[in-house]
Amino acid sequence: MAEDELGGELRTANSSDRAVSSGAQDPNVETFENPGMPDHHERVTDTNPQKAKNTERVVTALFWVSLAFTIFAIAAYFVWPINREDITSVRWNSMFVGLGIAFGMLTLGTGAVAWAKYLMKDEEQVEARHKTGASPATAKRVSEVFKQADEESGFTRRKMLRNSLIGAALALPLPGIVLLRDLYNGNNENPVKLMHQTMWDKGVRLVRDPSGTPIKASEVTIGSAFHVIPEGLNELEHGKLDEKAKAVVLLMRLPEDRLKEQEDRKSWSYHGIVAYSKVCTHVGCPVALYEQQTHHLLCPCHQSQFDVTEHCKVIFGPAGRPLPQLPITVDNDGYLVAQSDFHEPVGPTFWERRNDYV
Ligand code: FES
Repeated sequence: MAEDELGGELRTANSSDRAVSSGAQDPNVETFENPGMPDHHERVTDTNPQKAKNTERVVTALFWVSLAFTIFAIAAYFVWPINREDITSVRWNSMFVGLGIAFGMLTLGTGAVAWAKYLMKDEEQVEARHKTGASPATAKRVSEVFKQADEESGFTRRKMLRNSLIGAALALPLPGIVLLRDLYNGNNENPVKLMHQTMWDKGVRLVRDPSGTPIKASEVTIGSAFHVIPEGLNELEHGKLDEKAKAVVLLMRLPEDRLKEQEDRKSWSYHGIVAYSKVCTHVGCPVALYEQQTHHLLCPCHQSQFDVTEHCKVIFGPAGRPLPQLPITVDNDGYLVAQSDFHEPVGPTFWERRNDYV
């Protein structure tokens, strides 16, 4: 007896499905015996109402446990908050929030599978499928079209042409593979160390980028900003771009009473003139926009903002730590010079995740 469902596409299997031949009429098509449906076995939850009830309770409990884990994940976000000053807080936050979400999904999924497997209706069904293969006439025609195309293009006949095309096409992706070599740090130097060392050193003059002219403190007026590189960088013969990428600095002058300087950094500025790395601590874009009214620096890539009055601490956006400050002073001629290199690695925050950069 047939029971049509889904617009007559599905019907419950019955004994007549067990040994029906494939019914193919085309003598060129290989036929085989229809293996039929396996015997239907009732599950224990079909025959024993008590077992079904118990299973229902277990599935319900799994859903409640899932709910509890989800609530735990939300609570964990607040109980173990991310503290920008403490990198370990990111680990705790990620671990507990992640565990809550993972177990919430696991128990929800387990419950849903158990519900479907043990409690939902369990009857084999058959679905009639339309014939998928092309008719012999269509297949013949397609074959003829291919042969004609091959003949007209000479793809098979003109071997040299064909092989050179295949060779050129195969070689095309190779430059992309070769470019991956750039990911390899050839001299095997510790990348954290590389980012920690720049051209700045005691007495190195701050010069304008790109002209290379030195800057006197008296030229830096309040509200102005200079894009600065270390003196000598333009004269480098090798690695000039690498060095510039690390050493670029923004120089600004603020009213001295606006600077909220930490005690141990008071000597790093010069009469309100401060210098900060221009390399964003998020993923390294140049922080090039200075808002002179608010004394904020803006990174155009993902809108991180840094407050110059407070050691360029992050006040908005995804950057994870302040811009490194370059300690500066003036030399005997009144030109601005560095007191030393940066005291921390420049660039993206992930360098900080290893502690061996000192
Ligand atoms: S690189 Fe600066 S905010 Fe993303």
